[in-house]
Amino acid sequence: MSTLLFSPDALTERLETLVPELTEARHDIHKHPELGFEETRTQAKIKAWLESLGYEPCVSAQTGLVADVRPDLGTPTLALRADIDCLPMHEHTDLPYRSVHDGKAHKCGHDGHTAVLMGVAKLLSEKRDALPANVRLLFQPAEEGVRGGGAKVMVAEGALEGVKEVYALHNWPGYPHGEVRVRAGTMMAATAEFEVTVTGVGGHGSQPQHCRDPIVAAAGIVSALQTVVSRGISSEGGAVVSVCQFHGGTANNVIPDEVRLSGTIRTFDPAVTEVVFDRIREVVRGSASTFGVQAQVEIHPDYPVLVNDAECTAAVERVATAIVGPDNVTSDELPMAGGEDFAYMAQAIPAAYFFVGTGNDELTSPVCHHPDFDFADSIIPLAVRMFMGLVEDRL
Ligand code: NI
Repeated sequence: MSTLLFSPDALTERLETLVPELTEARHDIHKHPELGFEETRTQAKIKAWLESLGYEPCVSAQTGLVADVRPDLGTPTLALRADIDCLPMHEHTDLPYRSVHDGKAHKCGHDGHTAVLMGVAKLLSEKRDALPANVRLLFQPAEEGVRGGGAKVMVAEGALEGVKEVYALHNWPGYPHGEVRVRAGTMMAATAEFEVTVTGVGGHGSQPQHCRDPIVAAAGIVSALQTVVSRGISSEGGAVVSVCQFHGGTANNVIPDEVRLSGTIRTFDPAVTEVVFDRIREVVRGSASTFGVQAQVEIHPDYPVLVNDAECTAAVERVATAIVGPDNVTSDELPMAGGEDFAYMAQAIPAAYFFVGTGNDELTSPVCHHPDFDFADSIIPLAVRMFMGLVEDRL
Protein backbone atom coordinates (compact mmCIF):
# COMPACT_ATOMS: atom_id res chain seq x y z
CA MET A 1 0.00 0.00 0.00
CA SER A 2 1.23 3.46 -0.85
CA THR A 3 1.69 6.27 1.60
CA LEU A 4 -1.66 7.68 2.64
CA LEU A 5 -2.86 10.46 0.38
CA PHE A 6 -4.88 11.84 3.26
CA SER A 7 -4.62 10.69 6.88
CA PRO A 8 -8.08 9.97 8.33
CA ASP A 9 -7.92 13.21 10.32
CA ALA A 10 -6.74 15.26 7.36
CA LEU A 11 -9.57 13.87 5.25
CA THR A 12 -12.14 14.67 7.94
CA GLU A 13 -10.88 18.23 8.07
CA ARG A 14 -10.80 18.56 4.28
CA LEU A 15 -14.36 17.21 3.97
CA GLU A 16 -15.65 19.98 6.23
CA THR A 17 -15.17 22.53 3.48
CA LEU A 18 -15.57 20.18 0.52
CA VAL A 19 -18.95 18.65 1.49
CA PRO A 20 -20.88 21.97 1.35
CA GLU A 21 -19.42 22.56 -2.11
CA LEU A 22 -20.48 19.09 -3.26
CA THR A 23 -23.92 19.50 -1.72
CA GLU A 24 -24.39 22.70 -3.68
CA ALA A 25 -23.26 20.97 -6.88
CA ARG A 26 -25.65 18.09 -6.15
CA HIS A 27 -28.60 20.43 -5.67
CA ASP A 28 -27.79 22.23 -8.91
CA ILE A 29 -27.69 18.94 -10.84
CA HIS A 30 -30.92 17.87 -9.10
CA LYS A 31 -32.63 21.07 -10.20
CA HIS A 32 -31.62 20.50 -13.84
CA PRO A 33 -32.16 16.77 -14.43
CA GLU A 34 -31.43 15.26 -17.84
CA LEU A 35 -32.43 11.91 -19.34
CA GLY A 36 -30.01 9.35 -20.74
CA PHE A 37 -27.79 10.57 -23.59
CA GLU A 38 -29.23 14.09 -23.15
CA GLU A 39 -27.04 15.09 -20.19
CA THR A 40 -25.42 18.05 -21.95
CA ARG A 41 -25.78 20.57 -19.13
CA THR A 42 -24.62 18.05 -16.55
CA GLN A 43 -21.69 17.09 -18.77
CA ALA A 44 -20.72 20.77 -19.23
CA LYS A 45 -20.86 21.33 -15.48
CA ILE A 46 -18.65 18.33 -14.71
CA LYS A 47 -16.27 19.26 -17.53
CA ALA A 48 -15.84 22.78 -16.20
CA TRP A 49 -15.25 21.43 -12.69
CA LEU A 50 -12.64 18.94 -13.93
CA GLU A 51 -10.85 21.46 -16.13
CA SER A 52 -10.61 23.92 -13.24
CA LEU A 53 -8.77 21.15 -11.38
CA GLY A 54 -6.25 20.54 -14.16
CA TYR A 55 -7.93 17.52 -15.78
CA GLU A 56 -8.28 17.09 -19.52
CA PRO A 57 -11.57 15.17 -19.74
CA CYS A 58 -12.54 13.32 -22.93
CA VAL A 59 -16.10 12.83 -24.13
CA SER A 60 -17.39 9.24 -24.09
CA ALA A 61 -20.83 7.81 -24.92
CA GLN A 62 -21.97 11.22 -26.25
CA THR A 63 -22.79 12.81 -22.93
CA GLY A 64 -20.31 11.09 -20.63
CA LEU A 65 -16.79 12.04 -19.62
CA VAL A 66 -13.56 10.18 -18.93
CA ALA A 67 -10.82 11.90 -16.94
CA ASP A 68 -7.42 10.60 -15.85
CA VAL A 69 -5.71 12.03 -12.79
CA ARG A 70 -2.20 11.14 -13.95
CA PRO A 71 -2.28 10.36 -17.68
CA ASP A 72 1.53 10.66 -17.69
CA LEU A 73 1.69 7.47 -15.62
CA GLY A 74 0.04 5.32 -18.27
CA THR A 75 -3.10 3.21 -18.17
CA PRO A 76 -4.98 3.51 -14.90
CA THR A 77 -4.74 1.02 -12.07
CA LEU A 78 -8.34 1.61 -11.22
CA ALA A 79 -11.40 3.46 -12.42
CA LEU A 80 -14.30 4.90 -10.43
CA ARG A 81 -17.70 5.30 -12.04
CA ALA A 82 -20.67 7.58 -11.35
CA ASP A 83 -23.94 7.53 -13.30
CA ILE A 84 -25.28 11.01 -14.17
CA ASP A 85 -28.76 10.58 -15.72
CA CYS A 86 -32.21 11.18 -14.24
CA LEU A 87 -35.53 9.33 -14.54
CA PRO A 88 -38.54 10.17 -16.74
CA MET A 89 -40.86 10.95 -13.82
CA HIS A 90 -42.41 13.88 -11.96
CA GLU A 91 -41.05 15.34 -8.78
CA HIS A 92 -43.59 15.81 -6.01
CA THR A 93 -41.31 17.39 -3.43
CA ASP A 94 -41.23 21.10 -2.58
CA LEU A 95 -37.46 21.15 -2.17
CA PRO A 96 -35.85 24.52 -2.95
CA TYR A 97 -33.84 22.73 -5.64
CA ARG A 98 -36.72 20.68 -7.03
CA SER A 99 -36.62 19.75 -10.72
CA VAL A 100 -37.42 22.62 -13.07
CA HIS A 101 -38.14 20.14 -15.88
CA ASP A 102 -41.60 18.60 -15.80
CA GLY A 103 -41.41 14.84 -16.25
CA LYS A 104 -37.71 14.60 -15.42
CA ALA A 105 -36.31 14.08 -11.95
CA HIS A 106 -33.28 12.73 -10.12
CA LYS A 107 -35.18 10.01 -8.28
CA CYS A 108 -32.40 7.45 -8.10
CA GLY A 109 -29.73 9.70 -6.58
CA HIS A 110 -27.43 9.79 -9.59
CA ASP A 111 -27.11 13.52 -8.84
CA GLY A 112 -25.50 12.46 -5.55
CA HIS A 113 -23.25 9.85 -7.17
CA THR A 114 -22.06 12.55 -9.61
CA ALA A 115 -21.31 15.04 -6.83
CA VAL A 116 -19.42 12.38 -4.89
CA LEU A 117 -17.16 11.58 -7.84
CA MET A 118 -16.65 15.32 -8.44
CA GLY A 119 -15.46 15.49 -4.84
CA VAL A 120 -13.08 12.60 -5.37
CA ALA A 121 -11.78 14.35 -8.49
CA LYS A 122 -11.01 17.42 -6.42
CA LEU A 123 -9.25 15.50 -3.63
CA LEU A 124 -7.16 13.48 -6.08
CA SER A 125 -6.17 16.60 -7.99
CA GLU A 126 -4.88 18.09 -4.74
CA LYS A 127 -2.62 15.02 -4.29
CA ARG A 128 -1.74 14.60 -7.96
CA ASP A 129 2.02 14.65 -7.39
CA ALA A 130 1.80 12.04 -4.63
CA LEU A 131 -0.10 9.52 -6.77
CA PRO A 132 2.07 6.51 -7.68
CA ALA A 133 -0.27 5.46 -10.52
CA ASN A 134 -3.06 6.74 -12.69
CA VAL A 135 -6.73 6.75 -11.64
CA ARG A 136 -9.60 7.15 -14.10
CA LEU A 137 -12.90 8.86 -13.36
CA LEU A 138 -15.91 7.77 -15.40
CA PHE A 139 -18.97 10.01 -15.53
CA GLN A 140 -21.41 7.69 -17.26
CA PRO A 141 -24.64 8.75 -18.99
CA ALA A 142 -27.82 6.73 -19.46
CA GLU A 143 -27.90 4.14 -16.69
CA GLU A 144 -31.69 4.04 -16.38
CA GLY A 145 -33.42 1.16 -18.14
CA VAL A 146 -35.72 2.79 -20.70
CA ARG A 147 -32.95 4.39 -22.71
CA GLY A 148 -30.07 2.96 -20.75
CA GLY A 149 -26.85 1.18 -21.49
CA GLY A 150 -24.40 4.09 -21.31
CA ALA A 151 -21.92 1.74 -19.62
CA LYS A 152 -22.04 -0.58 -22.63
CA VAL A 153 -21.24 2.32 -24.97
CA MET A 154 -18.36 3.49 -22.77
CA VAL A 155 -16.87 0.00 -22.71
CA ALA A 156 -17.26 -0.28 -26.51
CA GLU A 157 -15.53 3.08 -26.91
CA GLY A 158 -12.56 1.81 -24.92
CA ALA A 159 -13.08 3.69 -21.66
CA LEU A 160 -11.77 0.67 -19.72
CA GLU A 161 -8.95 -0.37 -22.04
CA GLY A 162 -5.90 -1.25 -19.97
CA VAL A 163 -7.68 -0.41 -16.70
CA LYS A 164 -7.18 -3.12 -14.07
CA GLU A 165 -10.27 -2.65 -11.88
CA VAL A 166 -13.42 -0.54 -11.74
CA TYR A 167 -15.70 0.40 -8.83
CA ALA A 168 -19.13 1.97 -8.46
CA LEU A 169 -21.49 2.72 -5.61
CA HIS A 170 -25.21 3.30 -5.25
CA ASN A 171 -27.15 4.94 -2.45
CA TRP A 172 -29.94 2.80 -0.99
CA PRO A 173 -32.65 4.16 1.34
CA GLY A 174 -33.85 0.64 2.14
CA TYR A 175 -30.63 -0.07 4.07
CA PRO A 176 -29.60 1.57 7.37
CA HIS A 177 -27.75 4.87 7.10
CA GLY A 178 -24.01 4.38 6.90
CA GLU A 179 -24.13 0.67 6.16
CA VAL A 180 -22.08 -0.69 3.25
CA ARG A 181 -23.54 -3.71 1.47
CA VAL A 182 -21.60 -5.80 -0.99
CA ARG A 183 -21.08 -9.42 -1.95
CA ALA A 184 -18.65 -11.31 -4.16
CA GLY A 185 -20.23 -12.95 -7.19
CA THR A 186 -23.79 -12.19 -8.22
CA MET A 187 -24.81 -8.74 -7.04
CA MET A 188 -27.70 -7.65 -9.31
CA ALA A 189 -30.04 -9.56 -11.63
CA ALA A 190 -29.99 -9.93 -15.38
CA THR A 191 -33.19 -8.63 -16.89
CA ALA A 192 -34.91 -9.58 -20.13
CA GLU A 193 -38.29 -9.19 -21.76
CA PHE A 194 -40.05 -11.71 -23.97
CA GLU A 195 -42.89 -11.52 -26.46
CA VAL A 196 -44.81 -14.43 -27.93
CA THR A 197 -47.07 -14.06 -30.97
CA VAL A 198 -49.45 -17.00 -31.40
CA THR A 199 -51.00 -17.19 -34.86
CA GLY A 200 -53.89 -19.56 -35.54
CA VAL A 201 -56.92 -19.53 -37.78
CA GLY A 202 -59.82 -17.44 -36.59
CA GLY A 203 -63.51 -17.89 -37.28
CA HIS A 204 -66.98 -18.07 -35.81
CA GLY A 205 -67.08 -18.82 -32.09
CA SER A 206 -69.68 -21.52 -32.76
CA GLN A 207 -67.52 -23.33 -35.34
CA PRO A 208 -64.25 -24.23 -33.58
CA GLN A 209 -63.80 -27.24 -35.87
CA HIS A 210 -62.93 -24.83 -38.69
CA CYS A 211 -60.43 -22.86 -36.58
CA ARG A 212 -57.00 -23.19 -34.99
CA ASP A 213 -57.84 -21.36 -31.78
CA PRO A 214 -54.90 -19.20 -30.64
CA ILE A 215 -56.62 -18.39 -27.31
CA VAL A 216 -56.59 -21.99 -26.16
CA ALA A 217 -53.09 -22.44 -27.56
CA ALA A 218 -51.81 -19.32 -25.77
CA ALA A 219 -53.43 -20.48 -22.52
CA GLY A 220 -51.59 -23.79 -22.96
CA ILE A 221 -48.35 -21.91 -23.58
CA VAL A 222 -48.80 -19.82 -20.41
CA SER A 223 -49.33 -23.00 -18.39
CA ALA A 224 -46.37 -24.73 -20.00
CA LEU A 225 -44.12 -21.71 -19.34
CA GLN A 226 -44.62 -22.34 -15.61
CA THR A 227 -42.36 -25.37 -15.99
CA VAL A 228 -39.42 -23.35 -17.34
CA VAL A 229 -38.25 -22.51 -13.83
CA SER A 230 -39.96 -25.24 -11.77
CA ARG A 231 -38.79 -28.15 -13.97
CA GLY A 232 -35.90 -26.54 -15.84
CA ILE A 233 -33.43 -25.40 -13.20
CA SER A 234 -32.29 -26.51 -9.76
CA SER A 235 -33.69 -25.22 -6.49
CA GLU A 236 -30.77 -22.76 -6.23
CA GLY A 237 -31.45 -21.40 -9.71
CA GLY A 238 -33.29 -18.32 -8.56
CA ALA A 239 -35.01 -17.36 -11.79
CA VAL A 240 -38.33 -15.65 -12.39
CA VAL A 241 -40.45 -15.97 -15.54
CA SER A 242 -43.68 -13.98 -15.43
CA VAL A 243 -46.21 -13.63 -18.22
CA CYS A 244 -47.53 -10.12 -17.59
CA GLN A 245 -49.59 -9.42 -20.72
CA PHE A 246 -52.14 -11.57 -22.62
CA HIS A 247 -53.89 -9.86 -25.53
CA GLY A 248 -56.32 -11.40 -28.00
CA GLY A 249 -59.84 -11.23 -29.33
CA THR A 250 -62.36 -8.49 -30.09
CA ALA A 251 -65.79 -10.05 -29.65
CA ASN A 252 -67.53 -12.78 -27.66
CA ASN A 253 -68.43 -14.82 -30.74
CA VAL A 254 -65.22 -14.48 -32.76
CA ILE A 255 -62.21 -16.75 -32.45
CA PRO A 256 -59.28 -14.44 -33.26
CA ASP A 257 -56.34 -15.14 -35.56
CA GLU A 258 -53.73 -13.95 -33.15
CA VAL A 259 -52.86 -13.71 -29.45
CA ARG A 260 -49.91 -11.81 -28.04
CA LEU A 261 -48.19 -12.63 -24.75
CA SER A 262 -45.33 -10.83 -23.07
CA GLY A 263 -43.48 -10.82 -19.81
CA THR A 264 -40.26 -10.44 -17.88
CA ILE A 265 -37.35 -12.71 -17.03
CA ARG A 266 -35.01 -12.26 -14.06
CA THR A 267 -31.95 -14.42 -13.54
CA PHE A 268 -28.78 -14.29 -11.48
CA ASP A 269 -26.41 -16.58 -13.33
CA PRO A 270 -25.47 -16.40 -17.04
CA ALA A 271 -25.67 -20.21 -17.35
CA VAL A 272 -29.19 -20.19 -15.89
CA THR A 273 -30.15 -17.30 -18.18
CA GLU A 274 -29.19 -19.39 -21.17
CA VAL A 275 -31.19 -22.39 -19.93
CA VAL A 276 -34.24 -20.21 -19.25
CA PHE A 277 -34.08 -18.58 -22.70
CA ASP A 278 -33.67 -21.98 -24.40
CA ARG A 279 -36.49 -23.58 -22.43
CA ILE A 280 -38.88 -20.69 -23.19
CA ARG A 281 -38.23 -21.14 -26.91
CA GLU A 282 -38.64 -24.94 -26.71
CA VAL A 283 -41.79 -24.82 -24.60
CA VAL A 284 -43.44 -22.25 -26.87
CA ARG A 285 -42.48 -24.13 -30.02
CA GLY A 286 -43.63 -27.50 -28.63
CA SER A 287 -46.90 -26.18 -27.23
CA ALA A 288 -47.71 -24.40 -30.47
CA SER A 289 -47.27 -27.56 -32.49
CA THR A 290 -49.50 -29.45 -30.01
CA PHE A 291 -52.29 -26.99 -30.75
CA GLY A 292 -51.56 -26.75 -34.48
CA VAL A 293 -50.77 -23.04 -34.40
CA GLN A 294 -47.67 -20.98 -35.20
CA ALA A 295 -45.81 -19.20 -32.42
CA GLN A 296 -42.97 -16.72 -32.64
CA VAL A 297 -40.84 -15.94 -29.61
CA GLU A 298 -38.72 -12.86 -29.24
CA ILE A 299 -36.48 -12.48 -26.23
CA HIS A 300 -34.86 -9.09 -25.62
CA PRO A 301 -32.07 -9.25 -23.06
CA ASP A 302 -31.58 -6.00 -21.16
CA TYR A 303 -28.71 -5.73 -18.68
CA PRO A 304 -26.60 -8.79 -17.90
CA VAL A 305 -26.01 -10.16 -14.41
CA LEU A 306 -23.77 -7.89 -12.37
CA VAL A 307 -21.01 -10.12 -11.02
CA ASN A 308 -18.62 -8.69 -8.45
CA ASP A 309 -15.01 -9.85 -8.60
CA ALA A 310 -13.84 -11.59 -5.39
CA GLU A 311 -10.67 -9.56 -4.98
CA CYS A 312 -12.34 -6.23 -5.72
CA THR A 313 -15.15 -7.12 -3.30
CA ALA A 314 -12.59 -7.95 -0.62
CA ALA A 315 -11.09 -4.50 -1.19
CA VAL A 316 -14.51 -2.84 -0.73
CA GLU A 317 -15.09 -4.87 2.46
CA ARG A 318 -11.63 -3.98 3.79
CA VAL A 319 -12.04 -0.27 3.08
CA ALA A 320 -15.62 -0.19 4.42
CA THR A 321 -14.65 -2.07 7.58
CA ALA A 322 -11.93 0.51 8.28
CA ILE A 323 -14.41 3.38 7.83
CA VAL A 324 -17.74 2.17 9.26
CA GLY A 325 -16.63 -0.84 11.33
CA PRO A 326 -17.29 -4.55 10.75
CA ASP A 327 -20.85 -4.40 12.11
CA ASN A 328 -21.88 -2.06 9.30
CA VAL A 329 -20.52 -4.12 6.41
CA THR A 330 -22.84 -6.86 5.23
CA SER A 331 -24.16 -8.81 2.26
CA ASP A 332 -27.70 -9.03 3.71
CA GLU A 333 -30.52 -9.17 1.14
CA LEU A 334 -28.08 -9.53 -1.75
CA PRO A 335 -28.15 -10.22 -4.64
CA MET A 336 -30.85 -7.71 -5.54
CA ALA A 337 -33.37 -8.41 -8.34
CA GLY A 338 -32.92 -4.98 -9.93
CA GLY A 339 -30.80 -4.42 -13.04
CA GLU A 340 -27.71 -2.18 -13.38
CA ASP A 341 -25.71 -1.43 -16.52
CA PHE A 342 -22.46 -1.33 -14.54
CA ALA A 343 -22.74 -5.07 -15.28
CA TYR A 344 -21.19 -4.34 -18.71
CA MET A 345 -18.14 -2.81 -17.05
CA ALA A 346 -17.95 -5.79 -14.68
CA GLN A 347 -17.99 -8.08 -17.72
CA ALA A 348 -15.07 -6.20 -19.23
CA ILE A 349 -12.69 -6.07 -16.25
CA PRO A 350 -12.67 -7.08 -12.54
CA ALA A 351 -15.15 -4.86 -10.73
CA ALA A 352 -17.11 -4.30 -7.55
CA TYR A 353 -20.41 -2.50 -7.08
CA PHE A 354 -21.63 -1.71 -3.60
CA PHE A 355 -24.51 -0.04 -1.81
CA VAL A 356 -24.23 2.72 0.76
CA GLY A 357 -27.26 2.70 3.05
CA THR A 358 -29.10 6.02 3.40
CA GLY A 359 -32.26 4.95 5.24
CA ASN A 360 -33.70 6.59 8.34
CA ASP A 361 -33.98 4.68 11.65
CA GLU A 362 -37.35 3.16 10.75
CA LEU A 363 -36.20 2.49 7.16
CA THR A 364 -39.23 4.40 5.91
CA SER A 365 -37.31 6.88 3.70
CA PRO A 366 -38.78 7.02 0.18
CA VAL A 367 -36.99 4.42 -1.91
CA CYS A 368 -35.16 5.04 -5.18
CA HIS A 369 -37.64 5.76 -8.04
CA HIS A 370 -40.31 7.00 -5.57
CA PRO A 371 -41.66 10.51 -6.42
CA ASP A 372 -40.68 11.76 -2.92
CA PHE A 373 -37.16 10.35 -3.06
CA ASP A 374 -34.22 12.69 -2.59
CA PHE A 375 -30.55 11.72 -2.34
CA ALA A 376 -29.35 11.90 1.28
CA ASP A 377 -26.61 14.55 1.35
CA SER A 378 -25.60 13.25 4.77
CA ILE A 379 -24.00 10.24 3.05
CA ILE A 380 -21.65 12.30 0.85
CA PRO A 381 -18.71 12.15 3.31
CA LEU A 382 -18.91 8.34 3.61
CA ALA A 383 -19.27 7.88 -0.14
CA VAL A 384 -16.24 10.10 -0.82
CA ARG A 385 -14.27 8.23 1.87
CA MET A 386 -15.16 4.89 0.29
CA PHE A 387 -13.83 5.92 -3.12
CA MET A 388 -10.74 7.57 -1.63
CA GLY A 389 -10.16 4.46 0.51
CA LEU A 390 -10.35 2.26 -2.58
CA VAL A 391 -7.82 4.46 -4.37
CA GLU A 392 -5.46 4.16 -1.38
CA ASP A 393 -6.05 0.43 -1.09
CA ARG A 394 -5.61 -0.42 -4.76
CA LEU A 395 -2.62 1.80 -5.55
NI1 NI B 1 -29.73 4.18 -9.87
